[in-house]
Amino acid sequence: MSLGNETFRLLRDMIYEQSGIFFPESKKYLLENRLRRRLEERNCQTFEDYYYFLKYDPGREGEFLCLFDVVTTNETSFFRDPGQLMAFENGVLHTLVKEKETRGEKRLRFWSAGCSTGEEPYTLAIIIKERQEQLKNWTVEIMASDISEGVLQSAKRAIYNQNAIRNTPPAILTRYFRNSGGNYAVKEEVKNLVRFYRLNLFDQARVRAVRGMDVVFCRNVLIYFEDKAKKHVVSWFYDSLNPGGYLFLGHAESLYNISRAFKLVNFDGRPVYKKEAV
Ligand SMILES: C[S@@+](CC[C@H](N)C(=O)[O-])C[C@H]1O[C@@H](n2cnc3c(N)ncnc32)[C@H](O)[C@@H]1O
Repeated sequence: MSLGNETFRLLRDMIYEQSGIFFPESKKYLLENRLRRRLEERNCQTFEDYYYFLKYDPGREGEFLCLFDVVTTNETSFFRDPGQLMAFENGVLHTLVKEKETRGEKRLRFWSAGCSTGEEPYTLAIIIKERQEQLKNWTVEIMASDISEGVLQSAKRAIYNQNAIRNTPPAILTRYFRNSGGNYAVKEEVKNLVRFYRLNLFDQARVRAVRGMDVVFCRNVLIYFEDKAKKHVVSWFYDSLNPGGYLFLGHAESLYNISRAFKLVNFDGRPVYKKEAV
């Protein structure tokens, strides 16, 4: 069975409307391969049957959860793009702490939006732990969210293989991980800083309900979105941020042609988007 052009467009548009994720014609083969397993699970004979299942079946909501698991790309690792993390730690975090101290505030809120299997939010938690002397008596919250239930379950388990920790400095491995049958388990003190939620970034009501963030990390997520969807999601992030808050995108991503609301600032030579304080 193969995916015809017309059914491809129907499925592609449905996935886009539900998630913002866009499969261009050149990625038809990718969608076809990823959906094949879903067809088998649902006993659908053709891709067209599967489309109508998603459109009309009473079990469609549950199937969308499975669909999101297969159409998303979940590549990630601990300490991904160390240059950006240095900009976060030495630039953004440092600035936020100074600004908040002058206002007598002692609370920081970060959001890893599209957190995949948890490596990104746990990396942020480790960076915070490394600064615990300076942040004594501060409340630090790290919210982590993803559309895929499958990755969130792995994130909550927090046990990783060699590949996931390949960029992690050995001293950090010793301090914040324990051995779990040859794999690396994140210690409770790090896990306790992170709360995981299933959240579709294309769900306007849910995203707009997130408020009071100091930094949003949405790295390597919007690259899978179509421009119109990117514009919406970025404008909702803007509203989720506190004045003076920051948005990190993946190192190959930019807001060019997407939004002019943010100011582009540089920390350690790395571009970061800032919501200017009013
Ligand atoms: C490539 S991973 C990036 C993980 C991490 N941010 C990083 O940079 O290492 C992209 C993640 O975005 C999630 N994602 C894609 N579309 C989403 C949506 N509409 N809402 C929430 N998460 C989404 C995917 O499930 C996937 O886990």
